[in-house]
Amino acid sequence: MGYKEVYSAWQADPEKFWMDAAEKIDWDEKPSKALFDGNAPLYEWFSDGMVNTCWNAVDRHVEQGRGDQIAIMHESPITHSTKGITYKELQTRVASLAGALKMRGVEKGDRVIIYMPMIPEALEAMLACARIGAVHSVVFGGFAAHELAVRIDDCTPKAIIAASCGLEPGRTVHYKPLLDEAIEQAEHKPEFCVIFQREQEVAKLIEGRDFSWHGFQYGVKPAECVPVEGNHPVYILYTSGTTGQPKGVVRHTGGHLVALQWSMKNIYNIEAGDRFWAASDVGWVVGHSYICYGPLIAGATTVVFEGKPIGTPHPGVFWRIIQNNRIKSFFTAPTALRAIKREDPNGEWIKRYALHDLQALFLAGERADPATVEWAQKHLGVPVVDHWWQTETGWAIAANPIGIEELPTKVGSPSVPMPGYDIQVLDEGGHPVEAGQLGAIAIKLPLPPGTLPTLWNAEARFKKSYLEQFPGYYETGDAGYVDEDGYLYIMARTDDVINVAGHRLSTGAMEEVLAGHPDVAECAVIGVADDLKGQTPMGFLCLNSGCNRPHGEVVKECVSRVREQIGPVAAFKLATVVDRLPKTRSGKILRATMVKIADGQDWKMPATIDDPAILDEITEALKGLGYPKK
Ligand code: COA
Ligand code: AMP
Repeated sequence: MGYKEVYSAWQADPEKFWMDAAEKIDWDEKPSKALFDGNAPLYEWFSDGMVNTCWNAVDRHVEQGRGDQIAIMHESPITHSTKGITYKELQTRVASLAGALKMRGVEKGDRVIIYMPMIPEALEAMLACARIGAVHSVVFGGFAAHELAVRIDDCTPKAIIAASCGLEPGRTVHYKPLLDEAIEQAEHKPEFCVIFQREQEVAKLIEGRDFSWHGFQYGVKPAECVPVEGNHPVYILYTSGTTGQPKGVVRHTGGHLVALQWSMKNIYNIEAGDRFWAASDVGWVVGHSYICYGPLIAGATTVVFEGKPIGTPHPGVFWRIIQNNRIKSFFTAPTALRAIKREDPNGEWIKRYALHDLQALFLAGERADPATVEWAQKHLGVPVVDHWWQTETGWAIAANPIGIEELPTKVGSPSVPMPGYDIQVLDEGGHPVEAGQLGAIAIKLPLPPGTLPTLWNAEARFKKSYLEQFPGYYETGDAGYVDEDGYLYIMARTDDVINVAGHRLSTGAMEEVLAGHPDVAECAVIGVADDLKGQTPMGFLCLNSGCNRPHGEVVKECVSRVREQIGPVAAFKLATVVDRLPKTRSGKILRATMVKIADGQDWKMPATIDDPAILDEITEALKGLGYPKK
């Protein structure tokens, strides 16, 4: 069957399509049906099946004779080490950690926060939680203590599993002090913490609260997999919304297993025994779906990469790892390729390695600009598949499903909808627009298995954020169009989310931090175009009347403030002081117009503007920052 037949088969009978897909999962009790729509517009999948994620990702492969196959390959150019863990070893390690968690009272449904760098133990911690039905929430290491504290208060974990440190090029990230500070700041206190002591930095443990990874597991009875309901949450993953309060995306067990298993074969063309690598971080959804769960559910080998595309030690590191691990499908963010392309425009580093096994390169996380895609196509000589999805969906909404059929590529488009997704481009009134017309991208409900059923402890926010604008649809927050051939083009976000180096960030959250500075009366943060990172945040600060401090000083403090409160990942380095912000007569800040001026695009004076002269002041301020660049 080709793509069209597969998509039509789903359209004709979604229930049968997903029940067939569910056959590839080991259920303790099979679900009686796929879709549970009794609480529409909230939907669930496979709710009455009983199943365990860890069993499907680890134990069943051992049982099927794959015990000696490498499950996780740790490639750490930062520590100059390479280490493989077989499925059998993984099973032993995960069962032991799960047993220790259980012995300390962690039960099905309890939350556990995981705050770890790119080491195999991060995946082991995730799997150990899933093994006993505990709900993990991984927090990205580039976030500061405050962000961790917000997540602790939101999901109220019984335990936190962390590492002593993370390693960025030229800098040790001191996780333990960040963790201690976060617990100090949070109202909710975890009962205990488990700390994986890395040899690069051994952290000081707090007696009675902190246990060392190995000591914690000493002498415990390994835990068996606990079957859970199909609609039991396997994890919560926080993502940026319009405010400083992140959204806790919930993932249900049954749909997650079915959708990831389906996607590994049909999108990435990966099956048991194959080798797959997603160069992302466990703190992001790509890390959840395609570093940890997807490849392991499929019985493939996954790579945990602790390094950067350049500088660790050179721009050939990706190709070396692909060669040495004989990677078949590789997934990264366009920003990583842009960084490599900048240092290796002629692909000289690529030529040094034998990439015979590589069949395709997958890109996601941000718009894949044509120049980067074409560079990769030319130098790698394999299909470059842009695919579009979000934390909320957990797997691709649109892609070129090379495991089914390699469709013709259109550079600039993540291709076509995957089964389960009925993508519509809507005008402001919620009516579908014609091909080629720009609009809000929405997905007809229900969303397929594996996508978010709700937000953690925030059902009303879930409905308001995603379901209310266009009744009957899920609003993606992206704008774009579909062409005559049904290919999708993603052009921009419709909200205050920006994408910096493939990292999803909220300008609203940054504004909240800036507004907390004692001299700042009002502020705006916008995302401006950046050649390397796609977008970069830029702040405009209006100071309190009577504040006579040098502007440079306030700007510096604001930059540190965002780094300290949100984290280095916000990459907030550009800000300027202005007298006033451009607003509509009803008081809405005209951020979109500011972005256009900063990017040097054509712009029209908004009809609703209160005082047009302010835009001249903004233009001057931007010039002071060196914008527009071209
Ligand atoms: N822990 C702690 N700090 C982290 C971190 C982590 N896991 N990840 C990033 N940071 C820090 C970086 O050290 C940097 O700090 P600095 O301001 O002290 O330099 C800051 O956060 C910004 O990081 P980043 O935006 O990643 O920029 P960079 O300059 O370190 O690297 C690229 C630039 C393009 C090489 C890099 O962004 C990259 O490879 N990105 C890949 C993106 C990706 O895989 N995204 C996943 C989405 S699917
Ligand atoms: P995240 O939830 O961090 O995965 O970010 C999701 C957002 O990143 C999407 O809503 C898009 O705005 C953007 N995005 C992800 N993949 C793509 C892509 N292939 N093309 C364009 N934008 C993308």
